[in-house]
Amino acid sequence: MGVRMLWPSPVNRVATLNLGGEPMPVDKPLNFVVLVGSLRRGSFNAAIARALPGLAPSDVAIVPLGSVGEFPLFNQDVEAQGFPSAVVAMGEAIAEADGVIIVTPEYNYSVPGVLKNAIDWLSRLLTKPFAGKPVAIQSASPGIFGGVRAQHHLRQTLVFLDARALAQPEVMIPQAHNKVDANTGELTDATTRDFIAKQLQAFAAFARR
Ligand SMILES: Cc1cc2nc3c(=O)[nH]c(=O)nc-3n(C[C@H](O)[C@H](O)[C@H](O)COP(=O)(O)O)c2cc1C
Repeated sequence: MGVRMLWPSPVNRVATLNLGGEPMPVDKPLNFVVLVGSLRRGSFNAAIARALPGLAPSDVAIVPLGSVGEFPLFNQDVEAQGFPSAVVAMGEAIAEADGVIIVTPEYNYSVPGVLKNAIDWLSRLLTKPFAGKPVAIQSASPGIFGGVRAQHHLRQTLVFLDARALAQPEVMIPQAHNKVDANTGELTDATTRDFIAKQLQAFAAFARR
């Protein structure tokens, strides 16, 4: 019986990384893409994601990826029929980007199922779009911990994807309902805007290394 080898060996995974290349020039314009882990219409995390282009350094463009809600539930039988077009398109956009920013809620102390489902799909692409890719994480919650526990679960998953996760500065946004305008969906809190801007600056330097 023929077996499709969809799970590359560790040796193949390492071969996809740029381990010895020159750092990119410090003034190279960067293109980051944003993945949101909530499907909720009034999502605080989506509001944070919308604010990012306006908080980025002038030489950094930030554009949204498609919605994780466009992905079917992961099923290896579906995968065997071929990857859904939304998965392929997102994989290509990630592969072409200089970095990925994931902005997500915390569900039950972990990553929302819709985000994990999307990551599971993307991890199966033979192009391995996350391998060696700089990734920054942000989370927002009405609670007082700002989604920190989801961030740590997400970091664990990123290890297996061979992504390069930015360690510091961290962006957790507690009591998000007080920081996003309920009518306009705008991130209005000046302190939060300031520390997000600092993370984006650090992420740009990290992506250029
Ligand atoms: C199933 C479920 C589990 C949740 N678990 C947590 C949690 O563990 N920690 C937390 O801070 N908030 C939790 N919340 C509250 C979310 O932070 C809140 O619904 C938030 O608004 C979701 O993010 P969004 O506004 O971007 O959709 C949970 C919400 C749901 C629906």
